[in-house]
Amino acid sequence: MRWLDAFILAACASRTAAHADPNDPHHALPKLAGARRFLNEFNGQRRWQNRPRPLQESGTEQAAAEGPVEKRAQLEERQNTDGNCGPGYGSCATGYCCSPEGWCGTTEDYCTSPDCQINYGTGCDGNQKPAGVDTSTVARTKLGKIAYGGVGIYDCVNTGDIAITFDDGPWDYTNDLLDKLADYQAKATFFITGTNLHKGQINDPSLPWVSVIQRMAAEGHQIASHTWSHENYSTLTTAQYNNQIIWNEIALNDILGYFPTYMRPPYSICPTACENQLKTLGYHVTYFDLDTEGYLNDDPTLIQNSKDIWDEAVDGSNPCQDNYLNIEHDIHYQTVYNLTDYMLASLFSHGYRSVTVGQCLGDPPENWYRAGSSTVPAYNFTTRAPTGTWACLASATATGGSTATTTGVTTPTSTSGLQVSADGTCGSGVTCDGSEYGNCCSVNSWCGASVDYCGSGCQPAFGSGCS
Ligand SMILES: *[C@@H]1O[C@H](CO)[C@@H](O)[C@H](O)[C@H]1NC(C)=O
Ligand SMILES: *[C@@H]1O[C@H](CO)[C@@H](O)[C@H](O)[C@H]1NC(C)=O
Ligand SMILES: *[C@@H]1O[C@H](CO)[C@@H](O)[C@H](O)[C@H]1NC(C)=O
Repeated sequence: MRWLDAFILAACASRTAAHADPNDPHHALPKLAGARRFLNEFNGQRRWQNRPRPLQESGTEQAAAEGPVEKRAQLEERQNTDGNCGPGYGSCATGYCCSPEGWCGTTEDYCTSPDCQINYGTGCDGNQKPAGVDTSTVARTKLGKIAYGGVGIYDCVNTGDIAITFDDGPWDYTNDLLDKLADYQAKATFFITGTNLHKGQINDPSLPWVSVIQRMAAEGHQIASHTWSHENYSTLTTAQYNNQIIWNEIALNDILGYFPTYMRPPYSICPTACENQLKTLGYHVTYFDLDTEGYLNDDPTLIQNSKDIWDEAVDGSNPCQDNYLNIEHDIHYQTVYNLTDYMLASLFSHGYRSVTVGQCLGDPPENWYRAGSSTVPAYNFTTRAPTGTWACLASATATGGSTATTTGVTTPTSTSGLQVSADGTCGSGVTCDGSEYGNCCSVNSWCGASVDYCGSGCQPAFGSGCS
């Protein structure tokens, strides 16, 4: 059916999850193939099945038969409320949206960004500016040592760190994801998109997103920008791209009182002009070096593929030498409810620290944001101590390692409310119970399981194994 073909083409063009190194041609193909799946699956419940069919099935042929389309489009633009739109046709009437299939309308199926054709429908979600104080006049001082603009960041700096990042949210699953991260005492980075997937504007007080984003900040996660409506840079003017950055700032500042210096380009598309523009705007262009492709595997029967990609990287790696800057998407069910548990359990069992992007780069938290309506609050969150016996980790913990920029390193809390020993010592608030050394705290405050620890002088307040 003709409109379906057009839809699939448009889908490929407008929502390819090409989260790859744009300079690496080998990444392009599987990501492109994945785009259709992403769109199909995502829209499966909410949009695909009830997408209205256009009135004229063969609209394209009709238009072609009726003469010069650009001219026709100009003439009809003012009243084009349900006809064709897009390249070769022109724009819809003011306030109307141009669907990915190239039809004018006003409902979700037409207006959802980034699929809505932003250049042919003023009504597209991505064309709606959020309410809030203008941030465009805030000075773009280059804070810290991490590069602004340019070719971007693909790797963490500190060994032993894994920075798990989530793009495209917040979404319906994000609150549960925050619960999960809290359970593991893990820290993540959220690359927030302001108004994608017809979720509304993130700072709309009638929607749940304000509290979700405030919770992210309150729980020590890093908040970064993934632009206002996830448009393809290559289809925008400089002014439009400026709006994509500034409008997300306005909304985030409205929610937090400050806004980020870290961003990730949608589809990883950011040619030189984009790199330069982001430098001027004061952004760290942040990519990744570990993509589990959860967006391609959002199904119970497929998500193992993503786990395998994770294992391929992390199993057999060495936290004394390695680090990862990972990418996920919190708009996918299996990513949030299945893959995340798997990654976090693996991360900690392999002796890594779960940190934000800023932390894994060694960039102090005050550089992660610019003050807007409020100052940037002090970051006083602790990083869960790494587990295991890696030689490098003891000294990393002692010196603060990558967490030198935070107030310290803590271990998981045991059911008794004491910290579980991470380094074999015990006493003064630290218990051996649940540690890997044994559950007796010796007279000299060392954890162990033999009679030397569990016998005479064993401290029952800091371990349950005393004989
Ligand atoms: C972005 O737009 C360019 C120019 O129209 C196009 O060639 C490319 O396929 C688009 N990429 C995606 C991921 O939509
Ligand atoms: C989680 O992933 C595994 C594959 O790794 C799959 O067998 C299982 O069904 C998934 N669980 C849920 C609840 O979807
Ligand atoms: C952390 O900072 C917040 C405000 O930024 C403050 O309310 C809280 O008391 C601080 N917590 C600690 C443990 O310092």
